[in-house]
Amino acid sequence: MMNLIPHALVIGGTGMLSGVCTALAAKKWNVSVIGRSKNKFKPLMEQHPEAIFPIQADYDSEKIFRLVQRAIDERGTLDLIISWTPNHKALERICKLNASSAHFQLLHIKGSKRYFHDTEIDLPENCAYQKIFLGYMGEAGETRWLSHEEISKGIFRQIGSTETASIIGQIEPYEARPQ
Ligand SMILES: NC(=O)c1ccc[n+]([C@@H]2O[C@H](COP(=O)([O-])OP(=O)(O)OC[C@H]3O[C@@H](n4cnc5c(N)ncnc54)[C@H](OP(=O)(O)O)[C@@H]3O)[C@@H](O)[C@H]2O)c1
Repeated sequence: MMNLIPHALVIGGTGMLSGVCTALAAKKWNVSVIGRSKNKFKPLMEQHPEAIFPIQADYDSEKIFRLVQRAIDERGTLDLIISWTPNHKALERICKLNASSAHFQLLHIKGSKRYFHDTEIDLPENCAYQKIFLGYMGEAGETRWLSHEEISKGIFRQIGSTETASIIGQIEPYEARPQ
């Protein structure tokens, strides 16, 4: 059954992905957010107490699976997962918890090094998968890393897209990246 209110999970959503969480909340999504520090949830909760649901736990712990299952039980299966975690085993298990969803999108955020040497993950068939690589910006002959706002906006644009990979900013030439 489809959720009346779409449900997103943002893994590592209290740092540079905060803007994606608030943009989803503003579009009337329910947004479950994983992070460890209670303080980092405060700005999100202040802006959208009705739509942000903290999952305050370590994604390297067993507890995370119980808490994500509880989020699914309470707010429905996940329509979208946005993941910024190096723990691919945990990500795979979280996706499997969502097996009863008819279809969901996983936006897998990766640093630029992953563009050249990546590892694949094992995903259920109901998952539409997109890698999003974080690059750098080149302006007037200078380069700089992406701002959090650019990262969040770039990710938000990919929600619902059928691309399998995308880049925010640029990755090549790799030697031109900021030091
Ligand atoms: N290419 C670019 O332009 C660009 C731009 C920005 C960043 N980056 C890359 O991103 C890195 C900085 O990112 P960051 O990782 O510090 O990002 P961040 O988004 O600021 O923080 C990581 C997020 O994950 C959570 N988190 C971390 N470990 C966790 C755990 N074990 N369990 C649960 N949640 C956890 C954090 O909250 P808690 O700490 O409260 O758990 C926070 O929400 C930089 O080193 C850089 O490589 C690249």
